[in-house]
Amino acid sequence: MQEIDKTILFGSATHALGDWFQTHAYSSILILCDENTFRDCWPKIEHADWPTQPSVIVIPSGELAKNLKTCETVWDAFVAHAADRSSLLINLGGGVVTDLGGFCAASFMRGIHFLHIPTTVLAMTDAAIGGKHGVDFRMYKNYIGTFAEPECILIDSTFIDTLDGREVRSGLAEVAKHGFIGDPELIDMLPRQEGYATLDWNQILRRSIAVKLGFVEDDRYDKGLRAALNFGHTIGHAIETHQLATETPLRHGEAVALGMLVEAAISASQLGLPQEDCAMIESTIGALFPALVLPEIPAEKLQNLISKDKKKSGADVLFALLAAIGEPVVGQKVASSIVNEAYLHYNS
Ligand SMILES: NC(=O)c1ccc[n+]([C@@H]2O[C@H](COP(=O)([O-])OP(=O)(O)OC[C@H]3O[C@@H](n4cnc5c(N)ncnc54)[C@H](O)[C@@H]3O)[C@@H](O)[C@H]2O)c1
Repeated sequence: MQEIDKTILFGSATHALGDWFQTHAYSSILILCDENTFRDCWPKIEHADWPTQPSVIVIPSGELAKNLKTCETVWDAFVAHAADRSSLLINLGGGVVTDLGGFCAASFMRGIHFLHIPTTVLAMTDAAIGGKHGVDFRMYKNYIGTFAEPECILIDSTFIDTLDGREVRSGLAEVAKHGFIGDPELIDMLPRQEGYATLDWNQILRRSIAVKLGFVEDDRYDKGLRAALNFGHTIGHAIETHQLATETPLRHGEAVALGMLVEAAISASQLGLPQEDCAMIESTIGALFPALVLPEIPAEKLQNLISKDKKKSGADVLFALLAAIGEPVVGQKVASSIVNEAYLHYNS
């Protein structure tokens, strides 16, 4: 295992767990999986050198399970397994498991130790990094949660092997975003065609995580430049919400990819993002998602969806845009005429 940060280790999760338990003692070990990671990921670490037999807790998969009801079932399981303040929770899964598990651990008995073993590209490069944990409440995404740090995050790229291609590409959209806002060389490492076998996952994950960490470390509690990580997300969330009500819902990363295209055009109008940078963003997203098209959303509906964005300050929706690749600018108010023009640019 190699370190990128003192809490982020790369390599075989099985070996890393064995090493970890050489120096850390717990009264009990709990593992949180969803039904898919229990099937595809748990068998890969099941035979690690556990100091005591772990208890596995399985929750349903998907965003719909990321709520307080599921937390209750997890806390019930903690109680049933006699967890105490010296227990350890290991979150083995995508962003839903790391978000929910981190929150359950941080709030049980005012906080027990937890580790993340993220198993999707999105969770490895984004959700598990940065200390934000929580669940959705009613119809509101991530409304209940907390900042809390895992003891350690184990990044083992072999978990990617069982993800379907659409899930991998969706995660790579966030990696591309990290390239656009903070590491232009990362963009060149992304696939230019279908097929991931030849990708240098170790480098891609490392560099992507380094960008996220850079923004998080400068702004741990999300009061300023961390908002640069929202590039593509204001329009992306509007598109994601719009498509949810149709027969062709989009994965989060797909909606963010389309959002980045439109926000690049907005950045060109508002901040003079150079034409060659726009072209680079277009070609990267085009290569990752060759069949993806911007859905038709009437201007009024688009404005309405954008106005519900949670990155609001008072009545204003604030965009994170780019002055150039690698130069994000946060807190941007954008006139609706500019948004509509940028959207139409890709939707005509
Ligand atoms: N806390 C943060 O800073 C942060 C940042 C970004 C996203 N998020 C959250 O992350 C969540 C999305 O994460 P996600 O895209 O990983 O979704 P997810 O956790 O729902 O995983 C996607 C699907 O892949 C399955 N899966 C996971 N790993 C697998 C593997 N190795 N093999 C086979 N199947 C596997 C899951 O069961 C699920 O069906 C959202 O809830 C979002 O709000 C949080």
